[in-house]
Amino acid sequence: MPRPARVRRKVFVTRVIDSAALDRLRAAAAVTVWRDEIPPPASALRSALMDADGVLSMITDKIDAAMIADTPRLRVISNLGVGVDNVDLDAATRAGIAVGHTPGVLTDATADLAFGLLMATARRIAEAARHVRAGKWRTWGPMTMLGHDVHSSTLGIIGFGAIGQAMALRATGFGMRVLYLKHLRDKPTDARLAGAVGVSLPRLLAQSDYVSMHAPLTPATRHMIGAREFALMKPGAILINTARGPVVDQAALVAALRSGQLGGAGLDVTDPEPIARRDPLLRFDNVVITPHIGSASIATRARMAAIAVDNILDVFSGRLPRGCANPRVRLRPEQGAT
Ligand code: DGY
Repeated sequence: MPRPARVRRKVFVTRVIDSAALDRLRAAAAVTVWRDEIPPPASALRSALMDADGVLSMITDKIDAAMIADTPRLRVISNLGVGVDNVDLDAATRAGIAVGHTPGVLTDATADLAFGLLMATARRIAEAARHVRAGKWRTWGPMTMLGHDVHSSTLGIIGFGAIGQAMALRATGFGMRVLYLKHLRDKPTDARLAGAVGVSLPRLLAQSDYVSMHAPLTPATRHMIGAREFALMKPGAILINTARGPVVDQAALVAALRSGQLGGAGLDVTDPEPIARRDPLLRFDNVVITPHIGSASIATRARMAAIAVDNILDVFSGRLPRGCANPRVRLRPEQGAT
């Protein structure tokens, strides 16, 4: 009996990405790209995945256990991002689907943005720029737009992995003292961070002028900064979050800003995203919000796209992705593709 003709592997790409990366993927598979700026709705994603061998997904695509259960051929979910909280990792692992992600290449870009938010919030840069554009710059003023010193202050880092440590390096360059939340797995890996001190959460909150969030979103970190933690913070401290919105209890954040306990916030992530137009956070002058652009530099996004494609090609070659978020997975057998 002749073997049945094998069909090309199918990959669904949930947004337009770097064209060089897409071309490499197209050389290896039949690729369908979702071209809208808004992510595919769950129904469209589900039906695309039912027929796909791989998906190149974004952090905005929720791929839950029910969706995974409906994917007879899928062998790789390749997320463009380091965070994989949008994917049910356990369900993917049980189904024999590798989950790829892009750690490393976005570390510095994300730390740059986090430090930029710290500077913008401390020195009121966004507010001052709005002031100028509104035609309110009448003269130099001895008491105009006074902010807080960044140099010589204390930065507390929650989540001392690669991005947290890159943030710490930037802070040491500004003469800041660095504290980090002591955790079994979180230790400085760079000799230049020898002066960073690992402390408990209450001590970090009590001593830091700036607290910067770099922890991944997990059940354990959801709302890890809430009313109790804001109350422990130095009055007037500033919170920076470039990790995930839900690591902070946003209602408690608003309350801490309203009471003045918190002196400001620089947020690249909110809960939900995008933030609602009428969200009270948008009314505070001392809050700077950017639309989740931590890794959004041209070079970084191109590298992320290249790795996301490599992760898919790795699985098509029978290996685990080089950036694998579920390394214990045992890949399910392939179904008649080439
Ligand atoms: C990530 O990679 O998880 C960021 O949030 C998006 O770049």
